[in-house]
Amino acid sequence: MASVPKQNDGPGGSRPRVLVAAELKPLLPDDPLPDHEVVWIATEDPTPRGDFVAIVPLLSRPIGEKELNGLPRLRVVAQCAVGYDNIDLEAAARREVPVTNTPDVLTESTADLAWALILAVARRMKEGQEMLAHDAWTGWSPTQLLGLELNESVLGIVGAGRIGRAVGRRGVGFGMTILYTDEYAQPDFETEIGAARRELPDLLGESDVVSVHVPSNAETRGMFDARRFSWMKPGGLFVNTARGDLVDEAALVEALDQGRLGGAGLDVFSREPQVPRELVAHPKVVALPHIGSATTHTRRAMAGLALENAREVLAGRDPVTPVTH
Ligand code: GLV
Repeated sequence: MASVPKQNDGPGGSRPRVLVAAELKPLLPDDPLPDHEVVWIATEDPTPRGDFVAIVPLLSRPIGEKELNGLPRLRVVAQCAVGYDNIDLEAAARREVPVTNTPDVLTESTADLAWALILAVARRMKEGQEMLAHDAWTGWSPTQLLGLELNESVLGIVGAGRIGRAVGRRGVGFGMTILYTDEYAQPDFETEIGAARRELPDLLGESDVVSVHVPSNAETRGMFDARRFSWMKPGGLFVNTARGDLVDEAALVEALDQGRLGGAGLDVFSREPQVPRELVAHPKVVALPHIGSATTHTRRAMAGLALENAREVLAGRDPVTPVTH
């Protein structure tokens, strides 16, 4: 394994050098870019400076002006994630460095995890598990841990992109009516599963379960605030597998404490890996450590696609999955 070079190392070796997130190593072949020297970078280490021609970062690594200034020979940022809110797209565009991501390959696994949260929160699994863990179960009761019957309930999808649509498709199998809100109408999605488009306030007011699937950007950050939560159907369930900073977490805690919301399923947080104790410890919250795409199959596919994007650009070809904005 090549080690992280000292600051401002010049092009000493024979092969151009590429920075790749070290955590991807077990998911990739031994020599993932045979024409290049791979320098593995650990998450806790800052982005090295130097003559690197590509970087394959994780979503936790900021790629902004400072990092790009330190990488003057960079030809591509090949992110290993579908989201790219850690990357300053304008700064990359100013340097004509293309940015790529890993869409499609994680759609189904992430939709499965959103559903794991929907089921867990609708059927109050955390409270049930805690009851057993604390030896507090006194026996079967007709009124114990009554949850939401998903059949004939309404699922509101916020953001009908690939993952949102995959979550909606699964909802049909559970007998749910599907609503969605999106910048653009999705006639194929409507025809496929009978989904109906709504403006956000109407969707929030009509849905028993709201599942969030929008990217984090200047327009969406903080969109789930006290006002939006107050528009939700009383007792509604809120599920977020997209990005934590879409949510005002203090407002979510308040809505749960007041009983305005019936529960929340959260795979993402505003300041990962820090998680607000009030949320994680809340009996009505099922919280997970950002594992939406965490299946072996998907993570291998993500790593493979990120490297393929880097390889294509370095070979002078178009990337497979460029980020366009
Ligand atoms: C995960 O959150 C991703 O953006 O791939």
